Amino acid sequence: MTGLRQTQHLAREARHLAPGASEEAVHGRRVFTEGRGPVLTDLDGNQYLDFAAGTLTQSLGHGHPEVVEALTAQARRLWNVHDSATPDRADLLDLLARLLPERLDTYAFFSTGAEVVEAALRVVQATAPPGRNRIGALRHGFHGKTMGARMLVHWDIGHQAFSGNSVLGYSPYCYRCPLGLEYPSCDVRCATLVRRHIAEKPNVSALVFEPVLGAAGVIVPPPGYWERIADACREGGVLLVADEVLTGGGRTGAFLASDLFGVEPDLAMLSKGTASGFPFAVLAGRAELLRRPEAATSGAYASTYASNPLGIAAARATLEVVERDRLIDRVRALGEIMEDRLRVLESRFDRLGQVRGLGLLWGLEFVTDPTTRTPAPETARAVYTTALDLGLRTSLGGHILRLAPPFTLDEALLEEGLRLLEKALERVIA
Ligand SMILES: Cc1ncc(COP(=O)(O)O)c(C=O)c1O
Repeated sequence: MTGLRQTQHLAREARHLAPGASEEAVHGRRVFTEGRGPVLTDLDGNQYLDFAAGTLTQSLGHGHPEVVEALTAQARRLWNVHDSATPDRADLLDLLARLLPERLDTYAFFSTGAEVVEAALRVVQATAPPGRNRIGALRHGFHGKTMGARMLVHWDIGHQAFSGNSVLGYSPYCYRCPLGLEYPSCDVRCATLVRRHIAEKPNVSALVFEPVLGAAGVIVPPPGYWERIADACREGGVLLVADEVLTGGGRTGAFLASDLFGVEPDLAMLSKGTASGFPFAVLAGRAELLRRPEAATSGAYASTYASNPLGIAAARATLEVVERDRLIDRVRALGEIMEDRLRVLESRFDRLGQVRGLGLLWGLEFVTDPTTRTPAPETARAVYTTALDLGLRTSLGGHILRLAPPFTLDEALLEEGLRLLEKALERVIA
């Protein structure tokens, strides 16, 4: 239940705040005042384990001391000099060159996921051979809310679609296979069709994809899906543009989720996991593309907040900790525990239709019954609010709950969070 002080605060805000906040905010109705590590505190003094890690941003938890220190020091020194060089920027460039695959050795810095997606689209457009004027995307992909990004979004995610000039391919959503097939007897037909519609078309310049589809409910492709598509894109001259805004930075157990599937992108976009919640995004690409004169015209990678010193300080500090403390190994280890516990819940609660994920990124899909698989957003919402009342924050979107705790969580708190989730499921479903 939302406490009294929070209720009063929300009523005051509602007088002037435009509606249209996230489902989490609307149904959660909490006023958070502080975050420390994996724990949030609200205005009434209640505490929550944050298994949404902000919005999958807090890989190091909230207020990591080294990030706070880096930001504070930078805030005292310098905030904005357009996109001029600053001392930290060279360190961040070197750090990214160590963390990312060797091929992706050139970088540009932006502020948000949608902004970096737009930047990638500009590079694709600028470098596309004549006649290649269309861009491929996958159903159930999410790439942001700016017009270019929305052009790639072909499903109802709460805002009006704008299909623009993109060509649509099947996502590997086995639980709701649009072709009515079963893996593996399907022989990954969805991938064969993506090849045919995108990879083998002479007018498609790039496929923009989430290697694991996050917003749609952590859709993890089965073996064979990416292999088949990536090879065909390579052969067909279609650029592979990995939207790793959500998956990048270690969350799936590799710095780029693409690596887990053997996909070698030409461009990759990262944001959420890079700077501990400070607005920041990275466009990483092959030098040959990002340095090509058509793409790198004067000002092409600039904007008011591009390369801003605060974002760079936050990203440098965050990624240094990820590297130094070998946190991606930890993601894999904690991910195994999570998978074991979640599989037990999946078999126990029939309205928990499917549990999917890898590393510290998991999606729970709720259905009215396991046979019809009708989506059950009201159940997801009830589990979300019940878990909050019990002291666990998750991430809600339609009939899906996502779990994405910080990488720094200790095992006891991971178990504690999963126990709270189980309790919430018992209250709502049993
Ligand atoms: C894969 C992906 N791309 C792009 C975006 C857009 O990012 P932003 O909300 O920072 O614009 C998101 C946001 O969730 C995302 O998950």
